[in-house]
Amino acid sequence: MLQPFRCWKATALLIVVLVFTIFHPNSQLPSHHTSSSEPRVAIVTFTTTQQSFTYLSLKNKRAYAQRHDYDLFVDFEGSNERGTMWHKFVMVEQVIKGGEHDWVWWIDFDTLITNTSTKLTDIITDSLHGLPNPEEIDFLLTADCFPLNAGSMLMRAHPRTLEFISRVRAYGDANPDLSEQDCIRDLINLNAHNEDRHTLFIPQWKINAFPDEIRCWDEYQKGWEWGSFVLHFAGAWAHVKQDDPVGFLMRKYESQIIWD
Ligand SMILES: *[C@@H]1O[C@H](CO)[C@@H](O)[C@H](O)[C@H]1NC(C)=O
Repeated sequence: MLQPFRCWKATALLIVVLVFTIFHPNSQLPSHHTSSSEPRVAIVTFTTTQQSFTYLSLKNKRAYAQRHDYDLFVDFEGSNERGTMWHKFVMVEQVIKGGEHDWVWWIDFDTLITNTSTKLTDIITDSLHGLPNPEEIDFLLTADCFPLNAGSMLMRAHPRTLEFISRVRAYGDANPDLSEQDCIRDLINLNAHNEDRHTLFIPQWKINAFPDEIRCWDEYQKGWEWGSFVLHFAGAWAHVKQDDPVGFLMRKYESQIIWD
């Protein structure tokens, strides 16, 4: 049973909160874009199993998001009959349809942000700088030693991106043996809907650096080094003999993270 005094205190607190909410000058605006015109960025990832690096990966992404006032979305289930990795598109679609963001960064969970000073908004601005059609670029992508690595992708929150995702899904349904990464790659190559015009490949090391242990690098042949933005342990199982290859590499590189 509620004691009267506690009840009174709770009521008073509620009134104070309500009055503050109603009369606060910014109450009509979402808190994260009151003061600047910087693009609003969402970071999106998911993990569906308990792994030895779960805590580190989460802590790292959360610290990075907080530092720059980006929103971080993490799912812990990936219900998708096409295969778990297809869930990334469900999440990205939800964020775009939510209408609160300008760009979405999909990042695989087997990654570390190793330089938390680096701003995604700077990467976007720098990448688009000097292009004749910057506002038409919807995807910032990277290759690795194959034509595309979909583990780190910057996507413009725009209806065109939703249409692209729908086409990727339809292509995947028609080609069920292909991964979502292969489907993106093929659609860009086929270029049936000007995908080429809306995608920009940027150097792998900028948003998707692989370490020395995983020398599957793009044409720039530049792996992760101290001060790089992101470290991705893609396909570590194929390169590292230890049990738990990603956990092993995460712990090896944890001390290299620049947190502030
Ligand atoms: C970390 O990133 C920032 C911003 O991109 C850059 O200015 C700085 O030099 C980087 N740190 C190192 C140690 O490279």
